[in-house]
Amino acid sequence: MSFSPQFLSGRDIRQKFLTFYAARHHKIMPSASLVPEDPTVLLTIAGMLPFKPIFLGQRPREVPRATTSQKCIRTNDIENVGRTARHHTFFEMLGNFSFGDYFKEQAIAWGWELSTEVFGLPPDRLVVSVFEEDDEAFAIWRDQIGIPAHRIQRMGEADNFWKSGPTGPCGPCSEIYYDFHPELGDKQIDLEDDSRFIEFYNLVFMQYNRDADGNLTPLENQNIDTGMGLERMAQILQSVPNNYETDLIFPIIKTAADIAGIDYAKSDDKTKVSLKVIGDHVRAVVHLIADGVTASNIGRGYILRRLIRRVVRHGRLIGIGEEFTTKVAETAIALSEEVYPNTRDRESVIKAELRREESRFLETLERGEKLLSEILDKKPKQISGRDAFVLYDTYGFPLELTQEIAEENGLTVDVDGFEAEMEEQRKRSQAAHETIDLTVQGSLDKLAEHIHATSFLGYDFPDSEATVEAVLIAGKSVSEAAAGSEVQIVLDQTPFYAESGGQIGDRGYLTSGDVIIRVEDVKKESDIFIHFGRVERGTLTSGVTVNARIDRACRRRAQANHTATHLLQAALKLIVGSEISQAGSLVAFDRLRFDFNCPRSLTAEELQQVEDQVNSWIAEAHPAAVAEMPLEEAKNKGAIAMFGEKYADVVRVVDYSGVSMELCGGTHVTNTAEIGLFKIVSETGIASGIRRIEAVAGQSVLDYLNVRDGVVKELGDRFKAKPEELPDRITNLQSELKAAQKQLEAVKGELAIAKSDQLLSTAEAVGDFKVLVAELPGADAESLKTAAERLQQKLGESAVVLGAGSDGKVSLVAAFSPLVIKDKKLQAGKFIGAIAKLCGGGGGGRPNLAQAGGRDADKLPEALEAAKSQLIDGLK
Ligand code: ALA
Repeated sequence: MSFSPQFLSGRDIRQKFLTFYAARHHKIMPSASLVPEDPTVLLTIAGMLPFKPIFLGQRPREVPRATTSQKCIRTNDIENVGRTARHHTFFEMLGNFSFGDYFKEQAIAWGWELSTEVFGLPPDRLVVSVFEEDDEAFAIWRDQIGIPAHRIQRMGEADNFWKSGPTGPCGPCSEIYYDFHPELGDKQIDLEDDSRFIEFYNLVFMQYNRDADGNLTPLENQNIDTGMGLERMAQILQSVPNNYETDLIFPIIKTAADIAGIDYAKSDDKTKVSLKVIGDHVRAVVHLIADGVTASNIGRGYILRRLIRRVVRHGRLIGIGEEFTTKVAETAIALSEEVYPNTRDRESVIKAELRREESRFLETLERGEKLLSEILDKKPKQISGRDAFVLYDTYGFPLELTQEIAEENGLTVDVDGFEAEMEEQRKRSQAAHETIDLTVQGSLDKLAEHIHATSFLGYDFPDSEATVEAVLIAGKSVSEAAAGSEVQIVLDQTPFYAESGGQIGDRGYLTSGDVIIRVEDVKKESDIFIHFGRVERGTLTSGVTVNARIDRACRRRAQANHTATHLLQAALKLIVGSEISQAGSLVAFDRLRFDFNCPRSLTAEELQQVEDQVNSWIAEAHPAAVAEMPLEEAKNKGAIAMFGEKYADVVRVVDYSGVSMELCGGTHVTNTAEIGLFKIVSETGIASGIRRIEAVAGQSVLDYLNVRDGVVKELGDRFKAKPEELPDRITNLQSELKAAQKQLEAVKGELAIAKSDQLLSTAEAVGDFKVLVAELPGADAESLKTAAERLQQKLGESAVVLGAGSDGKVSLVAAFSPLVIKDKKLQAGKFIGAIAKLCGGGGGGRPNLAQAGGRDADKLPEALEAAKSQLIDGLK
């Protein structure tokens, strides 16, 4: 009964799971993106999701068996995160899958073997559940595995019939639970009691497809889909009270606690909940952005925004006053990069997005707090429901935050009044429209039922009249929006380009009489264009006619960068190789980015040739010919399509005759001469076999050069040199600095050696020998060696060990006299190697003199302590 699991790190658990199944002929596949290919699903919620088309027989299987560690996000229980021991938004699901290959019997046998033999869980600590009608699974567990019948629980459809969604593949399942308290006996096993049991492995016998009416039809194949919660297994094997305290998450909590200047272990429950929410959400946020999600008010973007806001708010609840999300994200990136390298690759994007969202939210909070303090100045008896509602509706202030601040001021909030206002608003918007909640997939379809696809006029016109079909605030449709509101607007037609094909959405204005809305971005969801903006003046009412006008200067910039991207691709094919193909792109107002497949970096010469080629095409003034045609015809003409991209039957072809012909929905210059100039800024590798060129075109070139020019001017002022003199001036300074550093090191070393003489008196006599173990702060490896040799010689028959730590690094040296080696069989090399291990390092050398190093300077005192007692023992 008294059993404590063998500690395994999260990394080892993941590895052991995958290796176990790989040894049983499963192909280890990488985790798919959190953004599923399946357009009906918002996020990847289980390991099986990437395989859904195979289960459904829509795609042939590539292999009969697979195993993965899949990143997943579920937000249905977000409120429980941090409050229970094991709710998450982001988690990793370990899974083994059979596509019409092995089935129930084998899946159960392997599931059991892995749990008991690889992870070492004793059988009497495990309980299993089966679907109530699944006698077969019951019999396998009882007769083949040997589990006593009373430890096999039959459970109903809600618990033991697994579905991937309202429709799709599904089947009965069987779960393995771990018992934290076997001393409570097995007379009454209640698997719902999560203080006692944790379900860690779910085996799904995937054999049906479910249609929208709930009818089940057998799938062609019998499949296996399983899921083991990595964090849960880590909780069990790391003997910690909850998932958050495992090595998968706790370092993030520790970072947040350090920033707040608090100690997790000594915190009260409320603080712990906030820290756990931060620990959980930060992982979700980092992976979502790494997988390409950006914060917005709809769909996945809204989930991301909500998670970031919760992180910021919980940071404030534990007393963090400054911006901190990038720091906690750094810990999450460091934890994940080995298995999910895209978090490190996209580090700058992740941090930029966090910075932007955090400061934006803090501003909102600040404005709300200002209003709240004005309310409090009036010394009310209570904060009215109306005020709490305005704070919520206009400033995004959650009710609980208003309540907390009220409480700090000895006040309460009229919650009933608040609810009544909320209800009123619901009714108002229902009267205008059916409430459309864009925060969940499916409601987008609802929006589509009300509103037709937006017609795009922007290829030909920079402005147009349009009717406002819907106004949304935070994803919910409203009948009107007052000045100051952040809104999303759907129009019947629009000149605004919506972000797609790498090109970002247009900016501009919508006006109607006195009402002015500034449009900051436009995105597209199922052919409906959503204009993101802010009501600058007046009140916007749904249904009115507006004048929609794009910012032409911005559009011109985007066009120059977009056409230049096409020319860049053509030049790369010409100069580097025709097999070059696009892997991604970004066309912004101020720059462009082009990712392409290429196994090596480009030479400086090639880059110059590519730049020159694009500039010649610009100077040659090639006119654009844009036409729509069937996909086949476009391909036959040689138009470049992006590999893996789904195209409609009729496509738009942008052709600069003889130079570049691409399938593209973006906006372009009518003649290449409009671009003016093109300049490559950088060429880097972003993943194995994928290169990235960043460049600027048109007006952006001037901006780029102006910034550079400013830097050169400033350097010139600082170094009192003309621009062309700067390189020499800097080289001279660098050599001077190097020489000075060398001198400093030498002086430091001499000082350390001089100081070492003071240590002589601390040597201890052990029998006929002297032992001297000491730290010599500031000494480098070389002076440490000189000092050790010198001390050893002065002490006669003796053993000397010296250590020094700086910048986290440790240097150690041992000097032993001849009799220490001969009579006492101690060798400096072996001895110091073992001691260095205590500081996370190693090393060695000769029996009389040896050096070693380590990475953990904090451990140095401990290591020296150990060296001393070992020497005293060894020389007795
Ligand atoms: N697909 C199953 C789950 O998510 C294994 O639990």
